[in-house]
Amino acid sequence: MDFSAVSSALKAIGELTQEVTSLWGVDEQVEGLASELRWMQSFLKVADARKVDNDMIRTSVVEIRELAYDAEDVIETFSLKVASKRKGGFSNCIKRSACFLKEGCLLHQIKSEIEKITAKIKELARQLQMYDVSKFGVDGEGPSFSTVRREARRPFPHVMDDNIVGLDDDVKKLVTVLLNEQSECRVVSICGMGGLGKTTLAKKIYHHSQVVGHFKHLVCVYVSEHCQKRKVWEDILSGLHILSDEDRKMNVEKLAKKLSSFFEDNKCLVILDDVWNIDAWNSLKPAFSARETKSKILLTSRNKEIVSHADKNGFLYELQYLNYDQSWELFQKIAFPQTNSPGYKIDAKMKELGEGMVKHCAGLPLAIIILGGILATKYPSLNEWLKVSINVKSYFKIDKGQVLKDMLALSYDDLPPFLRPCFLYLSQFPEDYEIPVDRLIQLWIAEGIVSSKQEEGLIAEDVAESYLIELAERCMIQVRERDIATLKMRSFQMHDLMRDVCLSKAKEEKFFDIADQSNACQLSRIGRVRRVCVHKFIRLQCIKSPRLRSLLLFDEFLPNEELENTFPLTMHSYIKNHDVVILLAISVLGTKCRGIWKYMFNNFNFLRVLDYEGGGEAGCKLPNDIGKLIHLRFLRLRGLEFFTSKLPSSLGNLRFLQTLDLRIKNICRRSIHVPNLLWRMQQLRHLYLPEECSLKTKLKLGTLKNHQTLVNF
Ligand SMILES: Nc1ncnc2c1ncn2[C@@H]1O[C@H](COP(=O)(O)OP(=O)(O)O)[C@@H](O)[C@H]1O
Ligand SMILES: [Mg+2]
Repeated sequence: MDFSAVSSALKAIGELTQEVTSLWGVDEQVEGLASELRWMQSFLKVADARKVDNDMIRTSVVEIRELAYDAEDVIETFSLKVASKRKGGFSNCIKRSACFLKEGCLLHQIKSEIEKITAKIKELARQLQMYDVSKFGVDGEGPSFSTVRREARRPFPHVMDDNIVGLDDDVKKLVTVLLNEQSECRVVSICGMGGLGKTTLAKKIYHHSQVVGHFKHLVCVYVSEHCQKRKVWEDILSGLHILSDEDRKMNVEKLAKKLSSFFEDNKCLVILDDVWNIDAWNSLKPAFSARETKSKILLTSRNKEIVSHADKNGFLYELQYLNYDQSWELFQKIAFPQTNSPGYKIDAKMKELGEGMVKHCAGLPLAIIILGGILATKYPSLNEWLKVSINVKSYFKIDKGQVLKDMLALSYDDLPPFLRPCFLYLSQFPEDYEIPVDRLIQLWIAEGIVSSKQEEGLIAEDVAESYLIELAERCMIQVRERDIATLKMRSFQMHDLMRDVCLSKAKEEKFFDIADQSNACQLSRIGRVRRVCVHKFIRLQCIKSPRLRSLLLFDEFLPNEELENTFPLTMHSYIKNHDVVILLAISVLGTKCRGIWKYMFNNFNFLRVLDYEGGGEAGCKLPNDIGKLIHLRFLRLRGLEFFTSKLPSSLGNLRFLQTLDLRIKNICRRSIHVPNLLWRMQQLRHLYLPEECSLKTKLKLGTLKNHQTLVNF
């Protein structure tokens, strides 16, 4: 259950009451609301610890979250108004009769809004009280358990990703096939179920010294269930360092030709990871149509038939499950953190329990590391191990296909409550996305999912990092990149099966929505939508959710296909030679972009997070209306390109901003002018300025007391 919203609302109330000594007549209402929320929070904690799984409670959690969000919005609007009045001398102002009436109205409105929310929460509480949660199950050791444990266990060797077991023979065999120039075989396929280690094996081959020496170019790309040939081909070109700006605008047939002639002329190894089916292969095939070539393709797949379809001389390699000894070896490395230290001896009772559980994993590496990860966080409590072991034995079916599902579900259920929303958040990123740690941490904090722990002297970023380490220890995420000097995690990925579990849990909890062409317009009808992520461009105007808090956009601002809709390709060549038409094109484009911005700024007034990931041309300028998004905590415009080089002065209104990424560009490569207003953002912690600021830009940042990151200053 995710009840981070309740904590977040309580925190906002706490801050408000600390900030202002008098709440001008709404004290009572605010206190009433806080006390209802506190009751709710403790009820949910008990229900969660006792694993009460009940429809009524589950739907209530969703409802409570909504109410908590509403409460936070009202409180925040109030505090903003108070702040602005204070600056102008609220008490003086209130004495003036003209203002008095207006303020009176405002107070009245806020009072009644708070009362309404409180009444709803009360009603919900009344219904919930009928459930005596204390009669369910027994308490888990609660959230504090893993915090305490974490301190005792560091550092964790297994997070270093050096735990590969076996595979040497597999690598040898495959390398021989790939290096054999006499053979006609052009396509090699590693097959097996998800989580068996296909990607791990393919990566080992990719880094193998003989392979690196043999092929002139090596490239590894991820295909995924939703194979998009253009993306895959562009990824290959980019992996080969031959992707140009023209290629991005080239039609797909030309792209395929470019690739296939490159493979003809150069000895390449292309690794296509996770090709789902024959259709996917067929769509990718045109890029690999070269006849006279020494290039080879290594693909991984769950489907055995692809290889014979792709190449009649193809080589099928069926990856085997780990045998018992290998399984145990892998399990030990993960579950017993100190196995590497000299003289360490595994406790006999734990060994017995561990061996019993490993048998249930059926030799599947992913199941083994997840089980190990769960147990590692409980080490060295024998009692906790016993509990997991009872679970594993009673619930796990013998069926190999089911083992993994059960294990993945168990790993989610075992998460302490504070880690659940953090984990659910991850499935908003597209499949196989390499998630950068610093951005994720900033997002978590902006969303109120993670906050500081003042009692322990930890700032929010440190807390968030420790949560992420715990997810890695549990093997729920896979570390991709580390800082060479500090060894801190820089980026990570999620196995696609883990992501599936994450996504389905997130859906169950109505944690967020992924908007696409088919559902965007209906979103507003599914109750209140608070978080939306967009993987592939849609018309944002379709989203009609005024209470939206978070919008993550992964595609380009206006992708090529969309531009083509505005301006068909045939016109492009014409445009090149005619200035008037260029002007026209710019103006049509500008209007389209402005429409998107304006819609967003005027309709999503409760946004806290706005993240433009894909960059791209975004019109003439960033409209001044951005100043209306006063609740924003996180604003990322990185990579967006504008015609003007000025940023609007209304940015200064965004007083709550914690992260501001202004690494925008000017289409004509001019330097960017940033107005000297950032000093007003007292909460700002992470600031990224444009790579090239204009000479006119003179920023005073001395007032920013919390800042931690300052890039391009
Ligand atoms: N032989 C192995 N030894 C250790 N860990 C392994 C092994 N094979 C797979 N793993 C681990 O299991 C997880 C899933 O492996 P992966 O290669 O992604 O599976 P697949 O591609 O078959 O779905 C990864 O985290 C990987 O580190
Ligand atoms: Mg894989």
